[in-house]
Amino acid sequence: MIGIIGALEEEINLLKNKINLEKKEKIAGRNFYVGKLKEREVVLVKSGVGKVNAAVTAQLLITVFNIKKIIFTGIAGGIAPNLEIGDLVIASRVAQHDYGNINSKGLTPFKPGSYPFGEMEIEDVYYKVDNVLFNIAEKISREIIIDDLPEGTVFLQQTRKPMIHKGTVVTGDQFIISKSKQKWLYNTFNALATEMEGGAVTQVCYLNKIPCLLIRSISDKADEKAEINFQKFVNYAASNSLLLVDRILDCI
Ligand code: ADE
Repeated sequence: MIGIIGALEEEINLLKNKINLEKKEKIAGRNFYVGKLKEREVVLVKSGVGKVNAAVTAQLLITVFNIKKIIFTGIAGGIAPNLEIGDLVIASRVAQHDYGNINSKGLTPFKPGSYPFGEMEIEDVYYKVDNVLFNIAEKISREIIIDDLPEGTVFLQQTRKPMIHKGTVVTGDQFIISKSKQKWLYNTFNALATEMEGGAVTQVCYLNKIPCLLIRSISDKADEKAEINFQKFVNYAASNSLLLVDRILDCI
């Protein structure tokens, strides 16, 4: 059984339309769609936004539905300067950028769950995603072709085709619409993208020894235009992420 989570309706709706539904169960305010996708037994669920929603959903998948692998699919704000709207990110590791201690100089990140005192090397704050799933996603990603931006969005001056990146994703209970915060996330964590759920799911999976995979597509660049771009590109980016997830289901 594979659990598939998206935070928003847009992030799961294409799969919801394809699922061969066996049953639907509502627990803690969320609908779990149990059925088959490409002959794989899956449970598809919309978690809602933020780390608590994501953690509750992941734990329910594991405890109630006996899920053995979790894939999170969705959109993210681009952090690294070379990312463009529509690009895909396969997370290799995830940090929670709002976890740590704050003194007069700002936030010092710590690994979620640890006491946020004393010293911690930045290399030690991440949770890693599952190596096997990551390698499968990485291999498949070389074979997929992502659609260009939808028509009518030329103002973005897109100069290249959407690309696929692998690396660090950061999570926090914050929608980032600030160039300076974006720079901080890049400089502090070497992050490719930021979102609001992946770190929680990765941590829950780590605690339960369940492999997890995190796929994101860029809907905005976490800058002052992020809110407007998010609304414009949420569907486009969400479907790019699902494109890869769909292919991954053939291989796991
Ligand atoms: N998801 C998509 N865009 C985001 C942003 N700018 N900040 C946090 N989560 C996001």
